[in-house]
Amino acid sequence: MSGYTVAVLPGDGIGPEVTREAVRVLRAVADLFGFHLDLTEHPIGATAVFQSGNAFPPDTRDAVLAADAVLLGAVGHPALASARGERSPEAGLLALRHRLGVFANLRPVSLHPALGHLSPLRPERLHQVDLLIVRELTGGLYYGEPRGKDAVSAVNTLRYTVPEIERVARVALKAARQRRSRVTSVDKANVLEVSQLWRETVSRVGLDYPDVHLLHLYVDYAAMRLITDAASFDVLLTENMFGDILSDEAAVLAGSLGLLPSASLGDGPGLFEPVHGSAPDIVGKGVANPLGAIGSAALLLRYGLELPEAAMLVERAIDAVLASGARTRDMAPGGAFSLDTQAMGQAIAGLVVEGGSPSLMSSRGYGLSLEPL
Ligand code: IPM
Ligand code: MN
Repeated sequence: MSGYTVAVLPGDGIGPEVTREAVRVLRAVADLFGFHLDLTEHPIGATAVFQSGNAFPPDTRDAVLAADAVLLGAVGHPALASARGERSPEAGLLALRHRLGVFANLRPVSLHPALGHLSPLRPERLHQVDLLIVRELTGGLYYGEPRGKDAVSAVNTLRYTVPEIERVARVALKAARQRRSRVTSVDKANVLEVSQLWRETVSRVGLDYPDVHLLHLYVDYAAMRLITDAASFDVLLTENMFGDILSDEAAVLAGSLGLLPSASLGDGPGLFEPVHGSAPDIVGKGVANPLGAIGSAALLLRYGLELPEAAMLVERAIDAVLASGARTRDMAPGGAFSLDTQAMGQAIAGLVVEGGSPSLMSSRGYGLSLEPL
């Protein structure tokens, strides 16, 4: 029997609650497909700081590097919001991403037909939204040196090298080939030299993909178009900070931030985490939406373990559950939600066990192809 090791990093806040459900679904998939899944749990973020003083401890580092893939919940804690260095949960996550070398962050955003009413946008603006944000994840302002702060000033550095831009551009262009063959690259080339290099480099790489239509937009205009004409986007390619901002904005299109999954890919094990954060305000209440985490588990199956059929099954189960009217609180504006976090996870796992039933085969998927990128 084939087997895989997945390092599970539940992290902080609602991270453990949603990760538990994603793990439930992964176990159901492993049973159904008959492979062995070795799930090992490790501390990260505030949880790790409270245990050992370090948000990304050496044992966690060793475990993720040895795994086939990494599933993460969320990091962040109000008591550590201004912590620096090893005691900062967010810095721990950035160190994890950097150590794994996961330079390409894929954030698919699509609207389930039954959830259109959740968005504040008019229905005609949401029609056929199906886009993929490809965010550069291990460079730019998040990592640039020098950085620092004193009483009167602070500095961060925005630096990108040509190879850093090239490799993430290739991921976006390849992904577009499996979708609608359009890439919109986002920058601020009218002001920033880094963006000029970004634009030149992406254009040059784009020559290798003549079948992909490549367009460049300034980030301010792209932000506007994302809510006025989202359906015109296929793949959005962007540097780290712009991608962070645009992906939260894009969550408005899907109806809830709690729904969005992500995959972070490099040359080693991939990192799979929901786009949402630790949500300290709802910890322990059983109202967190596990679908972003479960969708991330689907991406883990596809890109981390190269099990596309298993991934598709989970995505179809998510679609089927949403089509059935099941809702967690974030998807029920009037408070009329039907399922708590655990029940939602069980519903998905149940559908996975039913695996391959005709009703599941007819629904939507995330629009990502079966092929690994
Ligand atoms: C995200 C988060 C992180 C980021 C934080 C928690 C460091 O907002 O994954 O989008 O900014 O990358
Ligand atoms: Mn973010």
